[in-house]
Amino acid sequence: MKHPRKIIIDTDPGQDDAVAILLALASPDEIEVLALTAVAGNVPLPLTQRNARTIVELSGRDVPVFAGCDAPLKRKLVTAEHVHGKTGLDGIPLPDPVLALQDTHAVDFLIESLRHNAPGSVTLCPLGPLTNIATAFDRAPDIIPRVAEIVLMGGAYFEVGNITPAAEFNIYVDPEAAEIVFKSGVPLVVMPLDVTHKALTSRAWVEEMRGLGTPVGRAVASWTDFFERFDTAKYGSEGAPLHDPCVIAYLIEPGLFSGRHVNVEIETVSDLTLGMTVADWWRVTKRAPNALFIGSVDRDGFYRLLSERLARL
Ligand code: BDR
Ligand code: CA
Repeated sequence: MKHPRKIIIDTDPGQDDAVAILLALASPDEIEVLALTAVAGNVPLPLTQRNARTIVELSGRDVPVFAGCDAPLKRKLVTAEHVHGKTGLDGIPLPDPVLALQDTHAVDFLIESLRHNAPGSVTLCPLGPLTNIATAFDRAPDIIPRVAEIVLMGGAYFEVGNITPAAEFNIYVDPEAAEIVFKSGVPLVVMPLDVTHKALTSRAWVEEMRGLGTPVGRAVASWTDFFERFDTAKYGSEGAPLHDPCVIAYLIEPGLFSGRHVNVEIETVSDLTLGMTVADWWRVTKRAPNALFIGSVDRDGFYRLLSERLARL
């Protein structure tokens, strides 16, 4: 029997982070979630760590939650309440979490966990700004070769930007952290806006979630309804992109996705294009590939997987 893959989800929930976390917790045959590590991003850290605990409780599973960095490495935090609401998880009201926050800082947990698990056995799944991961790599470079893979949501090439004309939110918030991660040498799989903008919800799917009649189904439908207002107004599309669940769906069913092994560099200097992911999609340089940069998804297969898994919770 194949063992489930051990992962740590580094996250700034966020409704789409929440769906990603639920998808992982609903898939124990493929995925063992060692922990959630919260980072500042969509909303400040006190809210992201709280939301992470709320989501774990909603799932009915038991996973430790650690709080990490409350600000980017070198910049002031930029947040996205305009997308995710004041709490970061606006939608139906959920009970205050009882699950206690772990005492250890998320960065210390990341370091300890990578040192104690066998080399190459832990995959990192960042769904927010890369501050926690970069801080851990900076403080304990010995852990870098022990990481199996990093599968992350961030960046864009063809879709360019969503928080500025040139940059995607997760990378823009902490470009210096992103640069450390993209230069780390760890095998990277990147889910940019190019693919997540193809993973649009449909009315029928949202109603299917509501129709599950479970707390998880009701929450997922209400979250999707909440951020759909913003996305449909912005993009003029019918549904909203479920960005972060692409990371977890890739771990479960990589065949749903396709992309190219290319070089990706992060812009950290220019004010105009700060946080841009300069992907050598057309291979016009000799820079060595450092990432599998995903470009497309089997949308129906992706939503079939989400429906099947979320119905288990
Ligand atoms: C990313 O930014 C956040 O708003 C979402 O949770 C996702 O991780 C999309 O740009
Ligand atoms: Ca996120």
